[in-house]
Amino acid sequence: MSLLRTRRPRAVAVSLGVLVASAVGLGVVLAGCGSFDGGGVVSTVGAVRFETPLAIPPLAPSTINERGEREFELVAQEGSHNFGTASSTNNESTATWGFNQGYLGPTLVATRGERVRISVENRLPEPTSVHWHGMHLPAKMDGGPHQPIAEWAVWSPTWTIDQPAATLWYHPHLHGETEEHVTRGLAGMFLLRDDVEGALALPREYGVDDVPVMVQDIRVGDDGSLHTDVRGFGGLLGDQIAVNGTVGPYFDVSTDRVRLRILNASPARVYRFGMEDDRQLALIATDGGLLEAPYLTSAVQLSPGERAEVVVRMTPGETVALRSSPPDLGVNNAEGNGGSDAFDVLELRAAPTLESRAQVPDVLAPIERLGPATVERTFRFDGMNINNEPMKMLHINETVTLGTTEVWAVRNEQSQPHSFHVHDVQFQVQSVDGSTPGAELSGWKDTIYLRPGVDYRLVMQFTDYSDPNVPYMYHCHLLWHEDRGMMGQFVVVRRGERAGEPPGDHEH
Ligand code: C2O
Ligand code: CU
Ligand code: CU
Repeated sequence: MSLLRTRRPRAVAVSLGVLVASAVGLGVVLAGCGSFDGGGVVSTVGAVRFETPLAIPPLAPSTINERGEREFELVAQEGSHNFGTASSTNNESTATWGFNQGYLGPTLVATRGERVRISVENRLPEPTSVHWHGMHLPAKMDGGPHQPIAEWAVWSPTWTIDQPAATLWYHPHLHGETEEHVTRGLAGMFLLRDDVEGALALPREYGVDDVPVMVQDIRVGDDGSLHTDVRGFGGLLGDQIAVNGTVGPYFDVSTDRVRLRILNASPARVYRFGMEDDRQLALIATDGGLLEAPYLTSAVQLSPGERAEVVVRMTPGETVALRSSPPDLGVNNAEGNGGSDAFDVLELRAAPTLESRAQVPDVLAPIERLGPATVERTFRFDGMNINNEPMKMLHINETVTLGTTEVWAVRNEQSQPHSFHVHDVQFQVQSVDGSTPGAELSGWKDTIYLRPGVDYRLVMQFTDYSDPNVPYMYHCHLLWHEDRGMMGQFVVVRRGERAGEPPGDHEH
């Protein structure tokens, strides 16, 4: 492989989308060059040379401390990284941030019922935070904007894992800084295991037949630096794909079934993943865990922050690429938001003989349907605000009473891409425009793409962890929108208790 000349995965500019109208209407001042057309249509299909082995994030070591907690250590640090692009093969590596390494972070694994403690040290030149996306935990352990970690400080949240097996992730969440910190490289996976998942015949050998696939779109300049100036309305758009920090990656498959845990860790881009030959994938899990039954499909669409676990069948000796085809955004200016873009993502290379793995079970995990709800709230997404209010650090937008089941009716009022993510709980999608949602929205979710003008009714239950003073967040997970204030805060209180005041003095 190394004797072959590396060709840069080329981003082919097919046409230039000129979509300034939406930018003007928005009245947003952009930093940098002010390009707001997403950089034109990008396609790397057929142009990516898969020449670099896929990096598999190391499993984070852990110890059981004297309190019986499983303890991990993360150090947020500056570093550099070779993405494997043409510029970095010229020995220009890119200045990046990472946890315990130059770019991205190790994979944390914990089992339901365990108490975990994660000591996070910040060796960056500025404050950051680490949020456990998808995790059910007390608000002060959540790692949101109210738990900043100062330079050289250590933050050690602890909680008991009490939710189904799932593919979660972690990333910074400092108000106004999330997009920048994540795109510099601060992100990692957090896998949860439990007895239900453990009893099923599913591939689960990490890095062998159970593969983390963190997908990010990046744009690297000739000097090797990461570019952060090309935006659609949704935010930063790159022109090539890195998987686990590798551009043009291949993965050597040794089994006839391989489980891919796909995480869209990109700031703004929506993907529509499928295999290049459109073979059926068995979708087995979404954000918060296993579906009740596998769903056979040739494509899975993921907006930023969403996860999907799929099992892919492989035949001996074959080579097949995971691809992203143009996603269905349902917006006016799809092209300026990456809606016409396509990417070759990851090549799977099957060995001449493959170990066999069991067929995916017909029944996966039981999902108890939530309801009936006794409280309903409405969230309207428009103009970088939710319900016309921008995020304010000291303002609690919603007060939830412990023990209630609620419906959150969420709607994107703009013909622009937005999404909805809520902290603390996983929700169930009760209906989409009045109808029962498709199989891909039938399981536990914490993040959902909001198609413009569509009503989403999300059911969620708040069974434990009250704290009148420390809020959880709900927000658009397009990171630029979140940073600009498309976020709100809720507290969970005991019956009869009132919302207090968030501690801290850092008003934004
Ligand atoms: Cu993935 Cu509030 O975040
Ligand atoms: Cu989150
Ligand atoms: Cu948004």
